Amino acid sequence: MLRVGYPAILPIELFKDFPEEVELIPVAETLDHDVEIDVWIPDPYANKALKARPHLKGIKLVLSMMAGTEWIPPAVGPHVTICNASGAHNVPTAEWTITATLAMLKYFPLFHQIQQAGQWKQRFKMSAHYAQVTGDKRPIYPPVMLEELTGKTVLLVGYGSIGKEIERMLEPFHVDLIRMARSARTEPTVRAVSELDALLPQAQVVILILPSTAESHHLIGAKQIERMQQGALLVNAARGPIVDTDALVAALNAGKIRAAIDVTDPEPLPDGHPLWSCPNLLITPHVAGSSPMFATRAVKVAEGELRRYMAGEPLRNVVQAGC
Ligand SMILES: NC(=O)c1ccc[n+]([C@@H]2O[C@H](COP(=O)([O-])OP(=O)(O)OC[C@H]3O[C@@H](n4cnc5c(N)ncnc54)[C@H](OP(=O)(O)O)[C@@H]3O)[C@@H](O)[C@H]2O)c1
Repeated sequence: MLRVGYPAILPIELFKDFPEEVELIPVAETLDHDVEIDVWIPDPYANKALKARPHLKGIKLVLSMMAGTEWIPPAVGPHVTICNASGAHNVPTAEWTITATLAMLKYFPLFHQIQQAGQWKQRFKMSAHYAQVTGDKRPIYPPVMLEELTGKTVLLVGYGSIGKEIERMLEPFHVDLIRMARSARTEPTVRAVSELDALLPQAQVVILILPSTAESHHLIGAKQIERMQQGALLVNAARGPIVDTDALVAALNAGKIRAAIDVTDPEPLPDGHPLWSCPNLLITPHVAGSSPMFATRAVKVAEGELRRYMAGEPLRNVVQAGC
């Protein structure tokens, strides 16, 4: 019988659809004895999983509940196969992206300030805000108090699992979508990241949803921000180091662009960091992938991989093939 270790903090009911030929073994954060398992589903928090790790023996396969698995290879060694939970974050992260985009175009952070001040008439200040941010100084009547997403050009940098979900959720807004990934392809048309600088001037909204790697480090720097439209919105749902923080702070303070970011560099963002006080910026503290549905989805992804493993079929989300 295959022995599968799972985080003891999770309710066993989450695993009710696992194959009958599996013995489920709860793994507590603090173990005082060794436990033999074949498959390890680690606690989503690396620090907790690492506490249990020294007592886990015989691991052949790790099924992570997270997309990021950076800490696992050094913890289990090169002979163990590691799979991530690709897909488990799609819905909440895509929903965050749409919400953050709309919140910025509908000036929700400013309206929240007005609500706190209890001053209804301040809504007319939005017209000046619109003119200042976008550089559109035409006399517009009635005054502009919100913008539209519909019809805008959106550059989606990263067209993987979450990028495709963002595209699906953007459909009702009839945006002109420019998809971008590492390499170009067709059906649908995806542009290569080598075209980033050339395509940036076309977009009013730039969404980042790609991994943090040596290649993507500071993909958006001063040069790229300079090529963005006046008042364009940069949405970072990916990882902080993909954007050059100093360049972002300078561009926000200069009124060049606006931004909505779930991730920062450094992270956590320290008290008093210049980003906290930048204008036209919405920050959430790396929460985009979170939802009450997360554990259910992540365990479902693990179950699929486990069934393929037991059937001797190829696994789908391998990030390290054990040697
Ligand atoms: N904020 C949060 O809470 C949260 C939650 C979940 C995930 N994330 C972030 O979102 C990222 C994407 O997740 P996913 O599940 O969609 O990953 P995925 O399915 O692996 O897709 C990644 C996409 O990024 C593209 N890409 C990789 N390197 C690139 C580069 N240097 N330049 C341009 N494009 C590049 C890939 O291009 P190809 O298609 O050409 O390979 C692919 O289209 C994760 O790595 C993670 O950093 C954040």
